[in-house]
Amino acid sequence: MNSRVETALNDQVLKESFSSQFYLAMASWSENQGLNGTAKFLYTHSDEERFHMLKLIKFINERGGKAVIPSVEKPPVEFENIVNVFELLLHHELMVTESINNLVDICLQEKDYSTHNFVQWYVSEQLEEEAMARTLLDKLKLIGGDAGGIYIFDRDLEKFVPQTNEAGADQAK
Ligand code: FEO
Repeated sequence: MNSRVETALNDQVLKESFSSQFYLAMASWSENQGLNGTAKFLYTHSDEERFHMLKLIKFINERGGKAVIPSVEKPPVEFENIVNVFELLLHHELMVTESINNLVDICLQEKDYSTHNFVQWYVSEQLEEEAMARTLLDKLKLIGGDAGGIYIFDRDLEKFVPQTNEAGADQAK
């Protein structure tokens, strides 16, 4: 495997791993606030990020590279409020998208077209995740701190099933 591509893929492993921990911290905080729907949504989202990480690890190893399992920075314990949680989530997803775009660039520069093809799954996944984060944040801004509104938002999230990128999910099994 091209060493520059391998390094960039391992860098993405670290980012997906931190995403999983970050959302786990948000889930735990939400649970302690009595926001059980939000907690359920974030626990699921944390699992998805772990899946994103695993998919990369398997790809690196299957292609003859060596996946590096990273140590992870400790995420925050406290958050200001639920709006702050979703602001941070959106901001974090935007950072991940930038990193995926950088990975695409490196694949093209190194003429590694099969990894480029693999990374396309993450490109579409990011589009979905960004859109979801924006929608939820917009709703919260509309609610504007109203307790009844937050109660309904949280109850709705309990039933929310995130859209998954099925084709890619199957590839990783
Ligand atoms: Fe795996 Fe939400 O980026």
